[in-house]
Amino acid sequence: MTYIPCNGRYDTMKYNYCGKNGLKLSAISLGLWHNFGDVNSYENSQAMIRRAFDLGITHFDLANNYGPPPGAAEETFGRILRDDFKAYRDELVISTKAGYTMWPGPYGDFGSKKYLLASLDQSLKRMGLDYVDIFYHHRPDENTPLEETMGALDLAVRQGKALYVGLSNYKPEQGKKAFAILKNLGTPCLIHQPRYSMVDRWIENGLLTLLEDEGVGCIAFSPLGKGVLTNRYLHGIPEDSRVASQSAFLKSEDITEALISKVARLNEIAKQREQSMAQMALAWVLRNKQMTSVLIGASRVSQIDDCVGALQRLDFSTEELEKIDSILKDQ
Ligand SMILES: NC(=O)c1ccc[n+]([C@@H]2O[C@H](COP(=O)([O-])OP(=O)(O)OC[C@H]3O[C@@H](n4cnc5c(N)ncnc54)[C@H](OP(=O)(O)O)[C@@H]3O)[C@@H](O)[C@H]2O)c1
Repeated sequence: MTYIPCNGRYDTMKYNYCGKNGLKLSAISLGLWHNFGDVNSYENSQAMIRRAFDLGITHFDLANNYGPPPGAAEETFGRILRDDFKAYRDELVISTKAGYTMWPGPYGDFGSKKYLLASLDQSLKRMGLDYVDIFYHHRPDENTPLEETMGALDLAVRQGKALYVGLSNYKPEQGKKAFAILKNLGTPCLIHQPRYSMVDRWIENGLLTLLEDEGVGCIAFSPLGKGVLTNRYLHGIPEDSRVASQSAFLKSEDITEALISKVARLNEIAKQREQSMAQMALAWVLRNKQMTSVLIGASRVSQIDDCVGALQRLDFSTEELEKIDSILKDQ
């Protein structure tokens, strides 16, 4: 069936500036790391992108290696763009990345100019795009001069293959150096993409302050702790969950009793706030004023509906925040 986007799609979503840049992102963005590979149902992937857009999600995050197999998520997304979004390219912010292993040999990994630019060309082909909105270096590379990696990002913009550039997984000291190089080249860093959630708070020790000082945006990945910070595992491991799918990134041994008992206590606070656990976890990430967007994953349309519902209750009382902190700190 021909897709006709919902007319009211911009009515309830929030849009935040990426730091001091002119680009706004939807407060909730959708990532295609899981559930958009060749092994997944195209119809389900398509339904999730359609629903996300109908709810005002304008930002879709990819990487060269998302699948499986690597590259498949970009191909699936390219197909959805062709099938449904031809007329809406200018309403979308599409990002991709290079930095992890993508092809064999010395030129398919890390941070060389050779790898980054070849990878971006491949990503554009897979998605059928002339340019991406944001091109990221996916992880820092200690063995390549930062000037070379940042120079490659700058060149991608000058070649018209990316509009903006971003960094992911860079520590504050690495980020600070990279931001300075990019600024000098005339391509300031738009956004940083770190992991951040109630169960991983490392960015509170310096990165958030740096981003604010530098005017760089922040988009938190895995804000639901890959699914742990939801009602998903409160009563065991569901057969259709990421853990049960034998994901290398979330294993049954990660779902400890101690963790689930914390989530159960957090869920009681969420209930008092009339939110689902997932909604409270997202609102909690968005409480940081530097946070441009939370980058969720989803395996079905109903999860996207639920996550977007987080925007109805973003405020926290001091008491609620203290209670959450004390639960998270309990051993
Ligand atoms: N830059 C990087 O290095 C990096 C690394 C990782 C991820 N990312 C980006 O971040 C995106 C999100 O990562 P993620 O998938 O780990 O994020 P996440 O939002 O923490 O976890 C997503 C998972 O949570 C569950 N879920 C989502 N909404 C739910 C709801 N309302 N109720 C119950 N369960 C819900 C689903 O699990 P089930 O599948 O079990 O249903 C879903 O697959 C990726 O797609 C990617 O774009 C970037």
